[in-house]
Amino acid sequence: MNHTILEKFPKLLHGGDYNPEQWLDRPDILSEDIRLMKLAGINNVSLGIFSWSFLEPEEGHYNLDYMAEIIDRLYENGIYVDLATPTGAMPNWLTKKYPEVLQTDENGVQNLPGKRHNFCYTSPVMREKTRKLDEALAKHFGNHPGVILWHISNEYGGNFRDASCHCDKCRRAFRRWLKKKYKTLDHLNKAWWTGFWSHTYTDWKQIHSPSPHGEDLLHGLNLDWHRFVSDQLQDFCHEEIKAVQKYSDLPTTVNMMRYFEPLDYDRWAKEVDIISWDAYPLWHTKEDEIPIAVWAAAMHNQMRSFKKAPFLLMESTPSMINWQEKNMVKRPGMHYLSSMQAVAHGSNSVLYFQWRKSRGSFEKFHGAVVGHDGTEHTRVFKEVVQVGEALKAISNKVYNTCNVSKAAIIMDWENWWALKDAAGPKRNMDYVETILEHYRPFWEMGIEVDIVSMEMDLTEYQLVVAPLCYMYKKEYIEQIKTFVHNGGTYVTTYWSGIVDETDLCFLGKNPLAELLGLSVDEIDVGNEFFPNEVLYQDKKYPLGELRETVTIKGADVLGAYTSDYNAKTAAVTKNTYGKGAAYYIAAEMPREFLLDFYREVCVQADVKPNLSNPLPYGVTVSKRSGATDIYFLQNYNRTKVEVDLPDHFLDLVANKEISGKIQMEAYQCLVMEKQ
Ligand code: GLA
Ligand code: ZN
Repeated sequence: MNHTILEKFPKLLHGGDYNPEQWLDRPDILSEDIRLMKLAGINNVSLGIFSWSFLEPEEGHYNLDYMAEIIDRLYENGIYVDLATPTGAMPNWLTKKYPEVLQTDENGVQNLPGKRHNFCYTSPVMREKTRKLDEALAKHFGNHPGVILWHISNEYGGNFRDASCHCDKCRRAFRRWLKKKYKTLDHLNKAWWTGFWSHTYTDWKQIHSPSPHGEDLLHGLNLDWHRFVSDQLQDFCHEEIKAVQKYSDLPTTVNMMRYFEPLDYDRWAKEVDIISWDAYPLWHTKEDEIPIAVWAAAMHNQMRSFKKAPFLLMESTPSMINWQEKNMVKRPGMHYLSSMQAVAHGSNSVLYFQWRKSRGSFEKFHGAVVGHDGTEHTRVFKEVVQVGEALKAISNKVYNTCNVSKAAIIMDWENWWALKDAAGPKRNMDYVETILEHYRPFWEMGIEVDIVSMEMDLTEYQLVVAPLCYMYKKEYIEQIKTFVHNGGTYVTTYWSGIVDETDLCFLGKNPLAELLGLSVDEIDVGNEFFPNEVLYQDKKYPLGELRETVTIKGADVLGAYTSDYNAKTAAVTKNTYGKGAAYYIAAEMPREFLLDFYREVCVQADVKPNLSNPLPYGVTVSKRSGATDIYFLQNYNRTKVEVDLPDHFLDLVANKEISGKIQMEAYQCLVMEKQ
C-alpha cells in the first residue's frame, strides 16, 4: 500500500486542529461548528490532540463515547478525521500519582506538572499508560470509515526548554545506548578524546548527561547525547505507533516543527508513513517578504524530500500567531498565498491551528478560523473559504503529483549539532541561515531543489550543494566522489570536511581535497577593519565574516580576494573530476554573488528553471509533476508586478486561459496547467 497518499480520502485536505473538548457543555456551538465547517469547505480535522484528561478522566477509565459521537457526526457531514494520540500533554492525575513521568532538566531539577511535552520518554509508567490509552483508541476508532490518519502525539520535543530529559532513568538509558555503540570504554574514550583535561572514563557510571553545572564542553559527549535524545524520543514514538497499529492499519504521521534542532527528523521520517509539519512563517516582519517566503519554502522542500512524496501542512495560522513579542495579522491575500505556497512545494493539505478560538488560557488570542464572534462574517473566515474553494478546484489534478528536483542541498542534523559546538573561528556558524542563503537563488530562479541529509541517495541529482559541510559522515566521502566522478556537479563551502562522525578532526588534508583540487591553509573571521572583496567574473563582491586561504592543487580559480594578506589568492574555484565538477566557495559571500554564481552553475549542470522566462524580483514558480505538470506562480511582493509567461496556460482556479504579459496582484498566486 502506498501510504504516502491517504487512500481513504485521496484529496487535498482542508481543515485543522479541532478541540471540541473545550465546548462540550455548549452543544449549540458544536452543531454550529459543523455548519461553519461546511461553509468553509473543511473536509478534515485533527481530533484528540490534547484530550487525555477527557479520554481517560481517571486512571484506567476510558471515556470514548463523546469522541465517538463527534467522529460520527463529522463523518456524516463529509469531514474526515486525523486522530491524535493525546500524549502532547499529561493529565494532572497522572503526574500526581506517578511523578516519575515528569521531565528533569539539565541541572537535575525535575519539572512541576503543567504546560505540555513535559514527560520523561524513558519512564516505564509513561510508556505503559500511553500504550494502554493508544490501544483503546485504536481498538475503538482505528477502523472507523471517517478516520483516515493517526496523528501521533503533537510536536514531540516541543517543550518550552528543549527536548531532553536528564532524569536517572534517561541517564541510565544513555549509558546503555553508549555501551551498544562503543562496546568498550576504551573505544569511547578515544572517540571523545577524553585524554584532554584528564577526563578519561574508567566506569560507565561516571558518564553524565551534558549539563552547565557539569560537563558540557566535551564535544563527543554532547554529540552523542543529541543523538541519544533524538533516538530515545523516537523510540517512544515507535512504541505509540506499535500500539495503534495493533488494531488499525491506518497510516501514521508526526507533526514536525520548523528547523527543529533537537530531533533528527531525517531519521524520524522513516518512522512514519506520511510526513507533516506545522508552518508559522513570520510574514510582514521584514523589509520584504522574500526571506520569509524562502524560509518556509525550504522547509516545505525538506518535508517532501524525506520520502520524495507529498507531505501535509498539519498546522498554520489563518491570521496571526500569539507566541512572538509582536504578532502581526496576515494582510489580505497573504493567507491564500502562504496556503498555496505549501501546496506548491508538495503539500497535500492546508490545515490550521485551530478551528475555533479558545475562550481562555494561553492561546485565546491565537488566530483561528472562527473567532470569538462565532460567525462566518470575518475577513479571516472569508479568506479561509477562498482557500477551500481553490483546493477543491485543483485537488484532482494535484494530489497525486509531487515536485521533482534535479538539485539538492544537504542539511544534516548531526552536522548541525557538531557545527554548533565547534568553538572555532566563530561561535555560531548559523547553519540554517547559511542553507537558506544558498537556497534563495534557486527560489528566485524558480528551480526545484530538494533538501536532504548526508545519507540520502544522491544518484538522481545533477547538482548537490553542501554549505558548511563541517562533518563528513562515513559513507559521504565515497558517495560524493562517485557522484562527481559519474558526472554530478558538487558545490561546497568554507568550513567543510573538518571532522569525522565522532567530531574528531581529520588529520592531514580534507578527505575531498583531491576532488576539490585544493587544500585549505587557514580560516579567518574578518571584520570592518580588515575589509576584503572577491573579484568574480569582472565584478567585485564584498565579503561576510568567514574567509579561508587556500592553496590550489589543480582547480581553476574563478574568483580571488582583492585585499588583505591573502589578496590575489583563490576564493572561488572549480575542479573537474571524472565526468563532473566540484566548486569551492572559500568565503562567506553575499546574496548577489550567490545568485550570479548559481545562475552559472545551474546552466553548467543543466538544472533548469520551471519557467524559461526570467522572473521579476519577489516572484517564484514551483512545479508539481504527475500525469500533468501543475505550475504555482507566486508573487510575494507587496505590490503588483508584471510577469511574462512563456506559454499558454489554464488558470485552474479561475478556469480561464492566460498567456504573455500578465499583471499579478500583490500576494497573488496562480495555479496553472500548460495548454
Ligand atoms: C503549535 C502547536 C499547537 C499550537 C500552535 C500555536 O504548532 O502544535 O498546539 O500551540 O503551535 O501556534
Ligand atoms: Zn527521563
